[in-house]
Amino acid sequence: MSHSFAPPGTADRALMYAELLAQARALLDGEKDVTAAMANLGSAIQQTFHWHWVGFYRVVGAELVVGPFQGPVACSPIGRGKGVCGTAWAEGRTVTVPDVDAFPGHIACSAGSRSEIVLPLRGRSGEVAALLDVDSSSFNDFGPVDEHGLAGLCALIEPMLP
Ligand code: SME
Repeated sequence: MSHSFAPPGTADRALMYAELLAQARALLDGEKDVTAAMANLGSAIQQTFHWHWVGFYRVVGAELVVGPFQGPVACSPIGRGKGVCGTAWAEGRTVTVPDVDAFPGHIACSAGSRSEIVLPLRGRSGEVAALLDVDSSSFNDFGPVDEHGLAGLCALIEPMLP
């Protein structure tokens, strides 16, 4: 089966998220393996928005370990409370950073990152079990539309997490 994730020809990001969500639902339908799901969802997000880095971290014991991603090599592991990712994990909330250089403790994996959004994914236990991390090469690239759109996509993965 082939899937197309070309941008839908609109600058309306909310519409892009709506179309991507429908495509991702079809793509992940019947998928039981969380690594495969993260890999394909991350690719679909990247093919739609062409961001600097898109990927997942998994909670493994007391650390975050990088999972499937698209983009430059990543920092791993990351401790709880460290950087944007560790903060999103420790506080159990989405963290949106308009200028990564202004975020105390930001972990600079790549000099090309300017803004960042990190969403926690809760597994069946209700605990944060993974994170979605997206980096942009533009300042202030993420807002409420992204928080909502990316959360909808993460919800496709959450039932597969412990
Ligand atoms: N910048 C992140 C680290 C992960 S990379 O961006 C892939 C942070 O501060 O947690």
